[in-house]
Formats: sequence, C-alpha cells, structure tokens
Amino acid sequence: MQNVQFYQDAFTSHLEGFTQDREPLSLYSPINYILQLGGKRLRPVLTLMTAEIFNADYKIALDAALSIEVFHNFSLVHDDIMDDAPLRRGYQTVHEKWDVNTGILSGDAMLIMAYQLFENYEPVTFQALAKLFSKTALEVCEGQQYDVDFETRDDVTIGEYLKMIEYKTAVLVGAAMKMGAIVANTSLEDQNNIYEFGKNLGIAFQLQDDYLDVFGDPKTFGKQVGGDIIENKKTYLYLKALEFSNEADRLELTQLFSSNPEDLSAKINTAKQIFVSSGSAEATKNAIQEYTHKAFSVLSTINISEDKKVLLKAFGNNLMNRNV
Ligand code: IPE
Ligand code: IPE
Ligand code: MG
Ligand code: MG
Ligand code: MG
Repeated sequence: MQNVQFYQDAFTSHLEGFTQDREPLSLYSPINYILQLGGKRLRPVLTLMTAEIFNADYKIALDAALSIEVFHNFSLVHDDIMDDAPLRRGYQTVHEKWDVNTGILSGDAMLIMAYQLFENYEPVTFQALAKLFSKTALEVCEGQQYDVDFETRDDVTIGEYLKMIEYKTAVLVGAAMKMGAIVANTSLEDQNNIYEFGKNLGIAFQLQDDYLDVFGDPKTFGKQVGGDIIENKKTYLYLKALEFSNEADRLELTQLFSSNPEDLSAKINTAKQIFVSSGSAEATKNAIQEYTHKAFSVLSTINISEDKKVLLKAFGNNLMNRNV
C-alpha cells in the first residue's frame, strides 16, 4: 500500500496519455479541458487503493480508474448545464466557455470513451466491469432526474432525498471501489462489501457537498456558493430546516424555494440564516458523521488486515473535513 498522494500522481500521469489533442478539436478540447482542470480525483484514487487493498498491483486498475474519472467528468459537464452552473474547479464550466451544444456532445463522447476503456481488460473482467458500469450509470441518470424533479416539488421527504443522492452520487463511489476489487479478482462477498463501504461514504460525501454549497468559502470552493439555493434544490439542509422551523420561517423558506426572485443574494442570505438558526446546518454535520461511521462499520465484514482498515478510515475522516 502507498499513500493517497502516490495514487493521485500515478493517476495523473496515466491521464496525461489519455488527454492528447485529437480532431475535431471542438469535440476533444472541451474534454481535455475538463479532465485537466483537476479536482480531487477521489474516485480513481479509491479504485487504485482498493485494488491494492485486495493484494493486486494498482497498475492493473489504472484503466478502470480512468474510466470512472472520465465518466464522473462527463456527468459534471452535463450536470453543470442542468444546474446552470457558471464555475467548476475555479474555472468556467464547459457550456460557459464554449456553448451548451458543445457540452452535450463532448459529454456524450466522454461517456463512450469511459466504456471503451474496459476493452483493455480480458473478457471475464470486461464483462464484470461493463455490467457494473451500466447499472451504475443508469442509476446516476435516475438520481439526476429526481434531483431536477425535486426542484419544483414542495413535498420532498428526507427518504426521497437520501435515495436521490444515493443514486446521483453514492453508487459511483461504491462502483469505483468495487471496480478495484473486480480487477484484483477478489471474492464476490468482498466486492459487495467494499461497494457498501463506498456507497455510505458517498452519501456522506454528497451531504457534505450540499453543506459546502451553502457554507463554503467562495475564494477556495471552486463552484458558485449558493448555487443550490438559487436553483431551489431540495437538499438535506433545506428539508431539515423545514422540519425544525417555526411556522413563519417555514412559510418564508417555502416561498423562497418556489420562486426565482430578482435579488439572489437576499434569497441566499435568508436561506442561510434559517439553515443555521433552525439547527439544520448542525443536523447536516451530524448526518455526515453518521454516514461516515456507517461506512466504517461495514469494514468489520471485509477480509483485510487491520492496517488497511485504518487507512480507509483515515481516508473517510479526511473527506469529512474537506472544504472543497
Ligand atoms: C462533484 O464531485 C459532484 C458530486 C458528486 C458532489 P467532486 O467533489 O468529487 O468533484 P471534483 O472531481 O473533485 O471536482
Ligand atoms: C452532482 O450533484 C451529481 C452528479 C454530477 C451526478 P451536484 O449538482 O450537487 O454536484 P456539483 O455541486 O455541481 O458538483
Ligand atoms: Mg451541480
Ligand atoms: Mg446537480
Ligand atoms: Mg453540489
């Protein structure tokens, strides 16, 4: 096993070989742009780490890791169109720098490229990876559709929200880890358990993403702070604020989140205030902890040494304390 930085570097050099100039440039430049903008590389690092956790060489997991990251970036390009987001990783989003049509087609091409990378594996592994990938990618679409449908609903429940983030975000984190387990040829039982670990970590991760969308520092966050409020996203922060608030705040929040007012900073500030005063910000922090610890409890079912579990826990704890 190596440290996280090692896997990040190994992944970055593998990515460099992938992001070569190709014709037509108007299709491939946006792809290389988004892939080279960086990001935390959370999912590919998890794929490489998981392969080594199950006693394989991380190198055999590099293409699976690349596939996951290319898919993730495809989903971001389309997500930014759907969320009308101006900023990604501190730079212009693809549809802002180019246009919406470019974002659509470059995104489509990335989805196909992600699939294509599995061709570098032997048939049995190829099939297992492709099967997991198809199931996961379809779930991500379902989660994204729920996310959009919820923008115009005022009766979303916490249960529905949790299902939505499990699909749009958490299953991909689970799949990233399971792919590492698949290429390492580990038992089906361990494959499924590491998937559950990743999925719970992914739920915590999206809760934290929602929290940072409101409370992140605009100087370092890299995305538009308050974007979820502007778009009327029914996040855990919002739903818990409704649950905890008095009648007056509840009415104000419901009205704010069913309109597109002129004064966006007033909308953001009011929502933010109610999230804090109602105790929903605190409840969200607690839920992040709860799902991270739920992930940790899955570790007891996995047949790996104690020092590897310590490493995975450190990774989870670091995620909880991130600010981008
Ligand atoms: C952003 O993912 C989309 C979510 C699922 C929350 P990341 O926060 O992993 O984005 P990058 O790749 O590090 O920029
Ligand atoms: C993103 O959720 C989930 C996917 C891209 C599939 P968000 O819309 O919250 O992600 P960010 O905040 O734009 O990164
Ligand atoms: Mg978004
Ligand atoms: Mg979104
Ligand atoms: Mg977000």
